[in-house]
Amino acid sequence: MDMEKKVGVGLVGSQFISTIHFESIKTVADAKVLAVMSPTQGNAEAFAKEHGIPHHFTDLNALLAIEEIDMVVIGTPNHTHCDIALKAAKAGKHIVVEKPLCMNLAEADLMIDACKKADVKLMYAEELCFTPKYVRMKGLLDEGALGRPVLLKQSEKHDGPHADHFWDVERSGGGVTMDMGCHAIQFFRWLNGKNPVKSVYAQMNTSVHMDKTQGDDNAILILEFENGVIAMAEESWTKPGGMDDRAEIHGSEGVAYADVLQGSSIQTYSKKGLGYAVEKAGNTAGWSFVVYEEIWNYGFPQEFAHFTDCVKNDKKPLVTGEDGKAVLEAIFAAYESAGTGKKVQLPFKTEVDKPYKLWKKDLNK
Ligand SMILES: NC(=O)c1ccc[n+]([C@@H]2O[C@H](COP(=O)([O-])OP(=O)(O)OC[C@H]3O[C@@H](n4cnc5c(N)ncnc54)[C@H](O)[C@@H]3O)[C@@H](O)[C@H]2O)c1
Repeated sequence: MDMEKKVGVGLVGSQFISTIHFESIKTVADAKVLAVMSPTQGNAEAFAKEHGIPHHFTDLNALLAIEEIDMVVIGTPNHTHCDIALKAAKAGKHIVVEKPLCMNLAEADLMIDACKKADVKLMYAEELCFTPKYVRMKGLLDEGALGRPVLLKQSEKHDGPHADHFWDVERSGGGVTMDMGCHAIQFFRWLNGKNPVKSVYAQMNTSVHMDKTQGDDNAILILEFENGVIAMAEESWTKPGGMDDRAEIHGSEGVAYADVLQGSSIQTYSKKGLGYAVEKAGNTAGWSFVVYEEIWNYGFPQEFAHFTDCVKNDKKPLVTGEDGKAVLEAIFAAYESAGTGKKVQLPFKTEVDKPYKLWKKDLNK
């Protein structure tokens, strides 16, 4: 690629994560957002106006037709990822796709194959691999300061997603395990040098949001890796008081604890509450954990600096479509485990089109 040229970016989606994508890409000197697309009349237009983006569309093909766009960033509901990625690959665009990669293993194969054929990069947007506190934590493990990894833990918790499609298992594929368990699984794979997952055991429940979803709103996952490392994820959509994201590495010669949000926050008491504390904070009267530089603390600008570098300088991405597929395989195994009450061995092959179906089998009779 011409060294003088910025990587031209097209955003697909114009709401929650696309705003983070825009704010992140804005910090990357080698990238520029040229267009935004959303099917909802007026949304892409408003987004483009607010952020000074030259083009806005309601039609994906119109965005893909812009030659200067090198990289398409997919920030749309899970059930749309595969279709958009296939069209973008056909148009010769490099692709960043939000988590989870797609709905099922067949879609993952289609996406990986299409990108290989079109000779474009398929980059899987798992920001925890770029979260500065977690990057430092991995560094401690890599330099041997903790000895050999024995037990890895990660948890992500809030009181539930902001948009309808997350609650609708037909569009999301599953509940909190699909939505946030995917972060933990890739985090563990990254810490553990992409060693293959050997088995998954999961306990899931719809414990609070029965009126809103057929998906799981609380889940505990236990993963066993081929090299003997054990990992445990705790995921919740029922924890009030804002997003919580933590990890632990227990090694043979040391231990490290990291709390991404509360551990970096300004602990604030306000009688009347405040404008914004942290993602999904809800009511902020009384004590709250007020974050600063939230997207930087989560690693989104760092993630987009890396993906831009991969496109501009033809480098292999740290997280790829293959990683996204491996995460999905473990997610399917987790729902199978929750459905059967048994530990599930990998490789786990299934033709099922949505993970939740392996758990709530009685829903599909
Ligand atoms: N990495 C993270 O931490 C993180 C955080 C939030 C969301 N996400 C992921 O990002 C994706 C989007 O989530 P969100 O929170 O931004 O949702 P959202 O509801 O806030 O925004 C979704 C956007 O997609 C658009 N859209 C819907 N169908 C479309 C289609 N067929 N073609 C093009 N655009 C379409 C909508 O118009 C909207 O602009 C999901 O896959 C979600 O899992 C990741």
